[in-house]
Amino acid sequence: MNNIHFNKNKQKIVQEVFESSSSNYDLMNDLMSLGSHRLWKTKMIENINFNNSDIIIDVASGTGDLSKYILKKNPKQKIIRVDPNKEMLNKNAKFFKNYQNVSAIKSTAESLPIDSNSIDIYIISFGLRNLVNIDVSLSEAFRVLKKGGQFCCMEFFKVKKPIVKELYSFYSNVIPLLGKIVNGDSKPYKYLNKSIEDFFTQDQISKKLINNKFSNIYKEDLLSGILSIHHAWKLK
Ligand SMILES: C[S@@+](CC[C@H](N)C(=O)[O-])C[C@H]1O[C@@H](n2cnc3c(N)ncnc32)[C@H](O)[C@@H]1O
Repeated sequence: MNNIHFNKNKQKIVQEVFESSSSNYDLMNDLMSLGSHRLWKTKMIENINFNNSDIIIDVASGTGDLSKYILKKNPKQKIIRVDPNKEMLNKNAKFFKNYQNVSAIKSTAESLPIDSNSIDIYIISFGLRNLVNIDVSLSEAFRVLKKGGQFCCMEFFKVKKPIVKELYSFYSNVIPLLGKIVNGDSKPYKYLNKSIEDFFTQDQISKKLINNKFSNIYKEDLLSGILSIHHAWKLK
């Protein structure tokens, strides 16, 4: 029962956070990361080998940054963007209108309206920690991937190294102030900090991938582990 309440509550909180921050989402991303999120996302996409014929699903796509970086590499790539928040999905509608090969579906990661064994590559950036049920979402990721398909996730994690921890902690207190100035509300950005604090460790995410049948898991740490990219494959 408690779990049900927690889940409903989290979904509602997350929905409100992204509804209230969607209008300035891209600008805030640039300000909060001093533009670095572009480099991280480029790196994530550059490290995935995809063929022209591959179908890619961009889950928790938000305003569609990852999809944009893929289209830079191959404007004809078939991409399915998924997000439960219409405002976020529609934010760059003008840009995506030019790409017949990109579709958008309003859905959560926990229940994808996608056929089993139909997707070559599943990508998710800064989405995993917002999901209500990570295990269910990972099992959905496994279900929709074809055998041989790749899972790739980029996420922020709690910082462990002492000096980096202090610097990060100072910086993360500045972010809600920035949100107040740009967006008129600091709450969504307080949520972002708290969601990183409350989130699993990199090793726990690797274990969850194993528990959900993924193979060959490896992770790359960026910025001393402030963020990490997990790679995993569906080989069974
Ligand atoms: C921090 S944004 C990340 C957007 C984009 N991937 C990026 O890297 O800029 C998180 C996104 O997760 C979406 N989200 C929240 N709950 C979700 C769920 N249960 N399933 C899928 N996406 C969800 C939000 O609507 C939001 O667009």
